[in-house]
Amino acid sequence: MDRLQARTVSLFTAFALALGPVTVHAASPAPVEGEHGMVVTAQHLATDVGVEVLKSGGNAVDAAVAVGYALAVVYPTAGNIGGGGFMTIRTKDGKSTFLDFRERAPLAATKTMYLDAKGDIVPRASLDGYLAVGVPGSVMGFETAREKYGTKPRADLLAPAIAFAKDGFTFEQGDAASLAGSAKRLAKDEAAAKIFLKPDGKPYAEGEKLVQPELGAVLQAISEKGPDAFYKGTPADAIVKASQSKGGILSKEDFEQYSVRELKPIECNYHGYDIISSPPPSSGGVIICEILNVLEDYPLSYLGYGSAETVHAMVEAMRYAYVDRNAALGDPDFIDNPVSKLLDKAYATEIREKIDPYKAGKSADLKPLGGKESTETTHYSIIDDEGNAVAVTYTLNGSFGAGVVAPGTGILLNNEMDDFTSKPGAANLYGLVQGEANAIAPKKTPLSSMSPTIITKDGKPFMVIGSPGGSRIITITLEAILNVIDFGMDISQAVNAPRIHHQWQPDKVYLEPYALSPDTEKALAAMGYSFDGGNDAPLWGQAAGILVGGKSLTDIAKGGGSRYYGAMDSRAAEGSAKGY
Ligand code: GLY
Repeated sequence: MDRLQARTVSLFTAFALALGPVTVHAASPAPVEGEHGMVVTAQHLATDVGVEVLKSGGNAVDAAVAVGYALAVVYPTAGNIGGGGFMTIRTKDGKSTFLDFRERAPLAATKTMYLDAKGDIVPRASLDGYLAVGVPGSVMGFETAREKYGTKPRADLLAPAIAFAKDGFTFEQGDAASLAGSAKRLAKDEAAAKIFLKPDGKPYAEGEKLVQPELGAVLQAISEKGPDAFYKGTPADAIVKASQSKGGILSKEDFEQYSVRELKPIECNYHGYDIISSPPPSSGGVIICEILNVLEDYPLSYLGYGSAETVHAMVEAMRYAYVDRNAALGDPDFIDNPVSKLLDKAYATEIREKIDPYKAGKSADLKPLGGKESTETTHYSIIDDEGNAVAVTYTLNGSFGAGVVAPGTGILLNNEMDDFTSKPGAANLYGLVQGEANAIAPKKTPLSSMSPTIITKDGKPFMVIGSPGGSRIITITLEAILNVIDFGMDISQAVNAPRIHHQWQPDKVYLEPYALSPDTEKALAAMGYSFDGGNDAPLWGQAAGILVGGKSLTDIAKGGGSRYYGAMDSRAAEGSAKGY
């Protein structure tokens, strides 16, 4: 873009911002209203648990801990105590912090552990079975959050999860569909099959009850004795024993050494909104901010949701940001992440100047500065009566993780090791082609895309947002933000609107069904874009959003109605938003 074009764009931006966002009316369920608190999760029973914690005087962190344990029982595809994740917290006094309880590589891990003698990747070695398992962090993460920022006794927050595990819960259609999709894989592991398949070998179906007594006993022990019951007790022993007998490398020391990191969140400002999101070892916050910085000078609200010019600007910003993501970022204890460069508005200007306003860029022309797809992570958003806001994204990585359960524990184990670079230049589960910064090393954390995000305006909470979706988590979260701030959607429209995605390589624009009109697609094709997906393609992501003070910017400007508005993406069949 030349200087005149840039100036025109800036004038358009000023004009469009002065007018306010163009209001669009996508068909979506109405946002859920609440006066005192709001909980949005991918499983309605877990949402109810969170609301009950808030009603009984717990704060948003208490509710987040109880929801995390509940999802480990009622949402086994991604909820877990055998995986890990991130929690972004903004307290009522305006302070924000970030807890990293993601998995770490075992002490015996090596850079080439997924390669054969010829240096080729051993297919699925980082995805299936014990060699794929990183040291789990969820239990330590939840307890750290509760001790530092919660108010309730541990036993109160674990009680609902223990009850669901011991007494069972009845499958709805979405629960059954999620399990059915992984039944063949779970059948290969005796302990997993014993839990999730009936004696006739079929997965539990709608209307049937899943009871998990072994998981209930582990949760009971954690409730009574704390994280040591997991990291130094029989669950760790059983996982290590199973790992050693089935080709894994986990040791007792891995569990004993596990610790949670408290980190400063990534912060940036977009059109006056303060974005608070995940720092490395997640790429999420940095890359969302890098893309927003590039987009800030385009008049997106004037150009409109889904227009060829908007999609062009978004895709090019994504292309440049993902090349940085895949090459330059990694665990901050191992890598000097170029965060300040990537967040610098001057760097965003440099990128903008390289974007041809009339032509698609070419990923092959972009040189890195210095990493496929699954929806099986889960995100939940919570806000309480005092304005404490919590965004949690946690995961087993793939659906039902590594597909293994150590006998006697009931705990599904993650396959998070696949988020490392198994081999520079080769694609992982999410099609990410990553570099040395994310190479495997003992005790290192694999680079993530998880982006639990809180947004404030004028020092007050404005939005809580995040999603599962592997490498697409970043663009799903980004698009929900743009949908609210630039396109004037209400929070339900924002999380439900069709999505686009680009991640540098493969050099394609991924489309959800009906994301682009046929003539928009033609206009973009004429600029040089190629597409993947379309009207018969699968959906991706399950965003969970909360907006404060109104259901949309227009509603907020008019004074709003209720205090909190929540929306669970309708892509999550059994999810719900609930306020009180
Ligand atoms: N396992 C997905 C992520 O952390 O990005």
